[in-house]
Amino acid sequence: MDDKKIIFSGVQPSGNLTLGNYLGAIKNWVDIQHDYHCIYAMMDLHTITVRQNPADLRRRTLEVLALYLACGIDPKETILFVQSQNPHHAELGWVLDCYTYMGELQRMTQFKDKSARHAENINAGLFTYPVLMAADILLYQADYVPVGKDQMQHIEICRDIAQRFNAIYGDVFKIPEGMLSKSGAKIMSLQEPTKKMSKSDENPKAYISMMDDMNVIAKKIKSAVTDSEGVIEYRENDETKAGINNLLSIMSAVTGKPINTIVSDYSGQGYGTFKSDVAEAVVEMMRPIRSEYDRIIKDKEYLKNICAEGLEKAYAISGRTMRKVHKKIGFIQK
Ligand code: TRP
Repeated sequence: MDDKKIIFSGVQPSGNLTLGNYLGAIKNWVDIQHDYHCIYAMMDLHTITVRQNPADLRRRTLEVLALYLACGIDPKETILFVQSQNPHHAELGWVLDCYTYMGELQRMTQFKDKSARHAENINAGLFTYPVLMAADILLYQADYVPVGKDQMQHIEICRDIAQRFNAIYGDVFKIPEGMLSKSGAKIMSLQEPTKKMSKSDENPKAYISMMDDMNVIAKKIKSAVTDSEGVIEYRENDETKAGINNLLSIMSAVTGKPINTIVSDYSGQGYGTFKSDVAEAVVEMMRPIRSEYDRIIKDKEYLKNICAEGLEKAYAISGRTMRKVHKKIGFIQK
């Protein structure tokens, strides 16, 4: 192997990806794919900690894959695969369960949140979710793991587990680092702009799905919540400006222009014109991605091949880690 660093990340195919996911992460991944060995997985094993409809899960897994490809992730450069197709994830997950303490898992904020939200189904998988995530990452000896802020606690526990394991058995796992997307814009809800744009928001007007039609995207942006001041200005800590701040961030992320430049371009103009221009910029960015997506999603044979090729490469890497783990623990080699 050359000296390129390894990046690993994953997404749960449990809802529609949003403009926030694209501008905050995927767009950046496309730009860095030649500088790192990138591995991205559809994390379907994680989704079943919450009940899923089988047909939806199957469809969404392929949708996420097709969308990554449509956004410009090149399967010749980047490994793309489906988590459940590689048995090493569940296997290492079990092993690491035995090196993780109940107390550590009880402290996880996501577990606390999700068990409050799904009180009727607080299953063991929800509890050990972070251990499976640690297995995902450690199998590939990843250097960096790009995630949102809300996942940083999971990266911390992954490092703790890896360090604990290494302290007993020697250098088995690379200790990964979380990578908060630097240039990636943080895109907020269009309806409650102090909240992050989320694919699980109950109000579909709050987020732009990558699956939305162009006229729907434009409509959602034009009806984004702003304020009554009527001044296009970026004021970071002023909550009343959260809506305008968000539209400015979106415009900046889409056009690549700094926020200051956009602010001066629109000085003296009304929100109506600004919103129409943001809507148009987003639509123009999305249009080619959407048409590429529409083409790819129909080609099930192609998508299956991408999964198969990705799996083969992923399995070869994770297999090396798994053999090492078996040997160190004292399992008899096949
Ligand atoms: N927990 C992550 C999320 O909900 C998804 C995920 C699962 C993941 N395994 C991972 C992300 C490994 C990065 C690395 O966003």
